[in-house]
Amino acid sequence: GSGKFFVGGNWKCNGTKESIAKLVSELNSAKLESDVDVVVSPPFVYLDQVIGSISNGIEVSGQNSWIGKGGAFTGEISAEQLSDIGCKWVIHGHSERRHILGEANDFIGKKSAYALEKGLGVIACVGEKLEEREAGKTFDVVFEQLKAFAEAISGWDNVVIAYEPVWAIGTGKVATPQQAQEVHAAIRKWLTDNASTEVASKTRIIYGGSVNGANSSELAKQADIDGFLVGGASLKGAEFATIINSVT
Ligand code: G3H
Repeated sequence: GSGKFFVGGNWKCNGTKESIAKLVSELNSAKLESDVDVVVSPPFVYLDQVIGSISNGIEVSGQNSWIGKGGAFTGEISAEQLSDIGCKWVIHGHSERRHILGEANDFIGKKSAYALEKGLGVIACVGEKLEEREAGKTFDVVFEQLKAFAEAISGWDNVVIAYEPVWAIGTGKVATPQQAQEVHAAIRKWLTDNASTEVASKTRIIYGGSVNGANSSELAKQADIDGFLVGGASLKGAEFATIINSVT
């Protein structure tokens, strides 16, 4: 693997003030491996609550940000606003935004470029749909998505790549360690060919899609899996801690 392990908890559109207070207090008192970067991503309206209460070295991420400078963009949140309230990261290219909201590759790339310029780290998500995998197009789809990031951003520093096969997200159908490793290795090779060997060796490539406390350690053993982006299981403090501590 590359660099420090990185585990993100994407809370998606879940939680209340009360449930989030409970989750934060579980995370604050959990015993976490010190050699792991841990980031949680609450819904926008709870960011300030989480930033004001979370400890244990855990950083906070937005789930999205606007493509450019803020202004007359109803319903949007800008990268500079995320940065202003103390967010260190933002998630871009999540499959739910690609496929439910219709966000396109070039739009996502531009958002990431702007967020990086404003000093945020970007969790850049890529991944194929089931029919694309079945048609043998997994690498084509993933490389096309990576290319759109590469064309927009000026470098891969502060970018973590999350490989999240769409068929594995929220389905309980986790990729096998071999399936995930195969794509992670291909992504690393793509970085070697299209960026540099240095970028390829430094950039964290994390896996997401039905990761839980029971399957994370087998996945974490794979050579090119540098951490996880966890959805459902990140809403449970004890299980998220187990996942964090499974990466060695
Ligand atoms: O961002 C996280 C992924 O979409 C994974 O979600 O762990 O609920 O499958 P999941």
